[in-house]
Amino acid sequence: MLFHVRRAVPWAAMVIALAFVTACGGDTKSAQSDAAPAAAVAQASAPDGASLYLRCAACHQPTGQGLPGAFPPLAGSEIANGPASIPIRIVLRGLTGPITVHGTQYNGNMPPYGNTIEMSDAEVAAVLSYVRSQWGNAGGPVTAEQVAAERAAIASKTGQWTAAELGLKP
Ligand code: HEC
Repeated sequence: MLFHVRRAVPWAAMVIALAFVTACGGDTKSAQSDAAPAAAVAQASAPDGASLYLRCAACHQPTGQGLPGAFPPLAGSEIANGPASIPIRIVLRGLTGPITVHGTQYNGNMPPYGNTIEMSDAEVAAVLSYVRSQWGNAGGPVTAEQVAAERAAIASKTGQWTAAELGLKP
């Protein structure tokens, strides 16, 4: 009995190994022929800043001009185009209370995208890179790594930011 068990093990192992070899051999061709479409899919699924901006456009408008008395402009905004950590933090946690943009004070409510409505690091980077390159803006691109670093740094922050918390003019 013991003899049979010891003999059975190598046989089982060989059958399993053979199954693997067969499966891998069979996949080689399809893996090669699928390589080009897979690359295309990966590129197509990279977050697109322009389409992500549709989420912001309801308030900040497709033109980035905002709405007087309600939503501040992103076009020409010293905040949107300033040090990337600030717009990243605003997108992740939202903003509330008085804030001055372009010499005009606003007092509204921006929803957070980093907790209740989830946006990935790459998505926040893509939408801010878009904002900072449109309508004459030249704030420079934002990377997913920068977003990840800010997200980690503010992990314990609950609720929306106020201007004072971000060192901005109320
Ligand atoms: C529901 C409306 C709304 C949406 C959607 C929205 N925001 Fe805002 N945003 C505001 C308001 C209101 C303020 C000013 C908040 C205040 O008065 O404290 C603001 C402020 C800002 C600011 C700082 C002020 C400025 O004008 O530069 C930035 C940057 C910003 N938003 C970027 C974005 C981005 C990027 C998105 C999309 C991911 C977005 N917002 C989506 C309403 C919105």
